[in-house]
Amino acid sequence: MCGIIGYIGDTNVLPILINGLHRLEYRGYDSAGVALLNENRLYLQRAAGKITALEQKLPADAPLSTIGIGHTRWATHGVPNEANAHPHCDCHQRLAVVHNGIIENHGVLRQELIDKGHIFQSQTDTEVLSHLFEEYLASGMPLSEAVRQGLLRVQGTFGLAVIDEETPDYLMVARNGSPLIIGHGQGACFVASDTAALVGLTDKVTFLDDGELAILSRNGVAVKTIDNRSVDTRVEIIDQNLKRIEKAGYPHYMLKEIMEQPQTVEDTMRGRLLEEECTVKLGGIGNDIDSLLYARRIILTGCGTSWHAALIGEYLFEELVGIPVEVEYASEFRYRNPIISEDSVVIAVSQSGETADTLAAVREARRKRCKVYGICNVVGSSIARETDAGVYLHAGAEIGVASTKAFTSQVTVLALITLLLGRMRSISSARGGELLRELQQIPQKIERILQQHEQIRALAEAYQDARNILYLGRGYQFPVALEGALKMKEIAYIHAEGYPAAEIKHGPLALIDKDMPVIVIATHDSIYDKILNNIQEVRARNGRVIAIATEGDQEIKKYAEHVIYIPDVLEPFAPLLTIIPLQLLAYDMAILRNCDVDQPRNLAKSVTVE
Ligand code: M6R
Repeated sequence: MCGIIGYIGDTNVLPILINGLHRLEYRGYDSAGVALLNENRLYLQRAAGKITALEQKLPADAPLSTIGIGHTRWATHGVPNEANAHPHCDCHQRLAVVHNGIIENHGVLRQELIDKGHIFQSQTDTEVLSHLFEEYLASGMPLSEAVRQGLLRVQGTFGLAVIDEETPDYLMVARNGSPLIIGHGQGACFVASDTAALVGLTDKVTFLDDGELAILSRNGVAVKTIDNRSVDTRVEIIDQNLKRIEKAGYPHYMLKEIMEQPQTVEDTMRGRLLEEECTVKLGGIGNDIDSLLYARRIILTGCGTSWHAALIGEYLFEELVGIPVEVEYASEFRYRNPIISEDSVVIAVSQSGETADTLAAVREARRKRCKVYGICNVVGSSIARETDAGVYLHAGAEIGVASTKAFTSQVTVLALITLLLGRMRSISSARGGELLRELQQIPQKIERILQQHEQIRALAEAYQDARNILYLGRGYQFPVALEGALKMKEIAYIHAEGYPAAEIKHGPLALIDKDMPVIVIATHDSIYDKILNNIQEVRARNGRVIAIATEGDQEIKKYAEHVIYIPDVLEPFAPLLTIIPLQLLAYDMAILRNCDVDQPRNLAKSVTVE
């Protein structure tokens, strides 16, 4: 949420900033800006709208500079306009600040600074930072100390970068609750809010921890804590693959990421299946398996799509491992003082590994001395680093705001954990082998569904003007119904609800009429007959049924107006297939309705604020 990029070195900074901002644009895209130092003068340019709007405002003769910062915003405080765009300056436009996070005591600080004569230009919480730092600079402190002292007064979350025209030989960065990564170059340093912006620039990075600040200069990096204790600079090497963050010929990241799923699910399983023993090897939890194995209760937590994957985890763990599971929204878990005994285990599911609510839930669980595991995609992310152990998705960067390939990889990881624990508890080698062989088949089964894209597009054409859509599923397919509805809301802006199919007679049936498309996931499984009954209930009220059914099921055609077939699959892994047509349908509807698929209105990729 909001993207930050900064650079100091010997190369012209502006192209580095603009390129970095494009890579970070999925984090927020309502306004953008850059600040540079040229001959010890601060140069600032900002624009409402996307990065292209900022580029259009930048003059061809924009000043050359070798130090600068940039920002792409997702608004929290203050409407998305130019005045509220970052960077924000002090009264004399001497320094510039970019910030991701929320300054919770901004009201008090703002009033205090106004009383001292500071003049504010924006409605943002961020602007208090620039005036606060100005105040300390005015007392004669160097920038590094002014920033440190200022941050001691601040409550809230921040990832921030500061430049000052009287300090052209370094830039300051600091982190508390919003990710910041420092990149080490030759005679140069970078800072970014995620590694996507550093691809092609450097693979040597330092993940700043909460409560740390750093001085970035052409000679290197010095890290210390905000309360002034020294910290060794930890340098890590990250995997960099430009292809993974490019569209590779697809019109949108979302479509690329949907189409990549045979490969990404394969990558999630790569090297983890032990065919002979009919089980699974997961290096990230190998040494910490006992807490999971003997847990009296597992709590799965996450937000949005990750929460839906967690719900599937509940069905998997309870059916095949035999451990009681609860699934809780991280945003609820963190504030409701949950009862967590020492023999409970928490598993946090998060693509980005940075979602503020999920991270706070992880911290709450750890505070209660509970063992916490993470299922994350982004390597080195906060949740990955703050959990006791975990499993990476290895799905590659997910850039589209709508989560697609991360979902199938999350479900795959939950299936792998199920197989691992299940084999250690009660699953026989014969059943284990059956499950393992099914997992191996999933990528090519996904591929077969993707080949039906034309048919799904035709369906989207037929329903593109729908104002509401109901998604129904039972058992393992109920979370898929929720996830299908979320995709439709998020990118096609159509009101959609996911429901357990049997529940509709307790209320939602009242919504059904001839204009209501109802998508029913009716695969051939243990409750197939029951879902047919639910379809009849919808048909009897003239609802228009679109069924997701199992290949070979001719019966379903009697009840449904349209049928999309998926290959036959073992029931616990069916969500890995049934979600695919729903992702494609949401994508096609969004395209037909001229929606901005990769950057839907009002949203951003990683939600690093509450
Ligand atoms: O990065 P996370 O998995 O923690 O993100 C959680 C949600 O913000 C995310 O899944 C969101 O719901 C997606 N945009 C849905 O497509």
